[in-house]
Amino acid sequence: MEMLKRIIIDEGIVLSEQVLKVDSFLNHQIDPLLMQEIGRTFANRFGEDEVTKIVTIESSGIAPAVMAGLELGVPVIFARKRKSLTLQDGLYTEKVYSFTKMEESEVSISKKFLSPNDRVLIIDDFLANGEAALAMARIVEQAGASVTGIGIVIEKAFQNGSGKLKELGYRVESLARVSSLANGTVEFAE
Ligand code: G4P
Ligand code: NA
Ligand code: NA
Repeated sequence: MEMLKRIIIDEGIVLSEQVLKVDSFLNHQIDPLLMQEIGRTFANRFGEDEVTKIVTIESSGIAPAVMAGLELGVPVIFARKRKSLTLQDGLYTEKVYSFTKMEESEVSISKKFLSPNDRVLIIDDFLANGEAALAMARIVEQAGASVTGIGIVIEKAFQNGSGKLKELGYRVESLARVSSLANGTVEFAE
């Protein structure tokens, strides 16, 4: 997606070889026109899948997910993050391990928003090691629903998330694939 790549080049800040800061358009301030274009692009790529719901994780997945939901005409559910505590009725819960933060947390979705006949598109802002996307997929499957695809705004292709998800049989579509952040420079996979 050319518009996205241009904004990443113009406004992205390479914090390290692993981390790209994009807080001027995605993670803190949000660029609505870019989000609209992102929503349209996801709708084009997943529009044939008879999607009934979109699932994302708070907070930065919500903007792109809502724009995709608007284009596809389906509701958007965001998984809520919570500290690993006691079991709670009425929720589907999965663990997410963050390699960046080196900590395990949990994400939950209320059982009332997913049913076995749902066809779910998963959307997230970043794909690193794939742990967040996998947790969402497991929640969808706990509900007996199916995952029709996984849409990512920025994939860090030098980490193993995409490979892991594809090996498990999920279709992954990333709008920008960053192949390297070495030498303070963003490089994209072809
Ligand atoms: P990890 O295994 O590499 O730790 O990836 P993980 O998915 O656990 O990422 C933890 C958080 O960091 C997520 O946001 C994710 O979107 C974000 N993230 C991962 N890599 C990058 C990166 O290169 N740049 C930026 N800007 N973010 C990255 P979160 O903590 O869930 O926060 P939120 O922004 O969604 O609220
Ligand atoms: Na995220
Ligand atoms: Na984030």
